[in-house]
Amino acid sequence: MKKVLYRSFGGLDVLELADADVPEPGEHEVLVAVKAAAVNPVDWKMREGQVKFLTGWRMPQGQGLEFSGVVERVGRAVTAYAAGDQVFGAANDCLAEFVVAKEGKIAKKPADVTFEAASTIPVAGTTASSVFERAAISQGTEVLINGATGGIGMFGTQLAVRRGAHVTAVVSEKGAEYVQRWGAHHVVDYRKNNILEIGRQFDVVVELSDKLSFTQGRQLLKPGGKYVASLPRPVELLSGLVSNLYSRQKYALMGMQARTDALAALAGEVASGHVEVVIGQTYSLTAFREAYAATSAGRFAGKVVFTVGQHT
Ligand SMILES: NC(=O)c1ccc[n+]([C@@H]2O[C@H](COP(=O)([O-])OP(=O)(O)OC[C@H]3O[C@@H](n4cnc5c(N)ncnc54)[C@H](OP(=O)(O)O)[C@@H]3O)[C@@H](O)[C@H]2O)c1
Repeated sequence: MKKVLYRSFGGLDVLELADADVPEPGEHEVLVAVKAAAVNPVDWKMREGQVKFLTGWRMPQGQGLEFSGVVERVGRAVTAYAAGDQVFGAANDCLAEFVVAKEGKIAKKPADVTFEAASTIPVAGTTASSVFERAAISQGTEVLINGATGGIGMFGTQLAVRRGAHVTAVVSEKGAEYVQRWGAHHVVDYRKNNILEIGRQFDVVVELSDKLSFTQGRQLLKPGGKYVASLPRPVELLSGLVSNLYSRQKYALMGMQARTDALAALAGEVASGHVEVVIGQTYSLTAFREAYAATSAGRFAGKVVFTVGQHT
């Protein structure tokens, strides 16, 4: 099979499309013929060696953490899935024609959710869902979403509006029409405004841009507010811990939770039309360099997705 991989940490030039053996599913795993795999910023953070505590040092390594496809074969202990099932989920190395996934990290794809849309749920969707476990967001909660039309922001903005929150969406020009359609109450273009100077304070600040530190985010929080970070920066984790002990302003870290129940719940929201999945662009597997170059440059709103194989 074909698989995108790299043999040393680095930039786009270390990526290659290689021939690889089709992996064998273990007892509690399924082998899936990939139909779509979505791009995430963590893909290039892993490839560049920024998160070696996650990747380790072994080489070669594959790319891609979320996928959808059709079950080809199941492990001996798997009873919930069978060959031919359309599924989606999280797994390593899914930028390939076949991927092996743990049965607890996949769910069946509803028929009226496309393979492309389903492939965006496991990382971006479930990380957005985790925000609602970390911070109380309900009717009238004032929420600022900094990066509202990226992968996580797309899900987070719509889920927050659905819970009745009063949402301020921070976007660039290309995202404004989406957040208006999703019902955001205020839209701030970060290229035209300094959000630290908008003169408002929030119950919850959801940081997705990699640009707004906890120290800055606190300026936007009400006295009892909470900052929900997307990245575990060591210094911030420490100041967050101290703040959680001694201040009314709290810190929390969102985290992907690609379990079957969480995946199925989100797919239901997409299937029922309550959450729109914006696919900014699709690429074939062979266009891996172009796709990562465009995505890391922030060219598209929503998600960038690889389409793999034939869609039936
Ligand atoms: N903790 C976890 O488990 C977990 C899981 C997944 C991802 N993450 C991390 O979460 C972060 C967000 O992920 P994602 O998939 O949503 O990324 P993404 O799709 O790249 O979205 C980033 C968003 O930030 C916006 N942005 C860029 N510069 C900005 C600025 N100066 N001010 C305000 N917004 C700005 C972008 O808007 P424009 O495109 O309009 O510029 C875009 O909407 C990444 O750092 C990722 O690594 C964490």
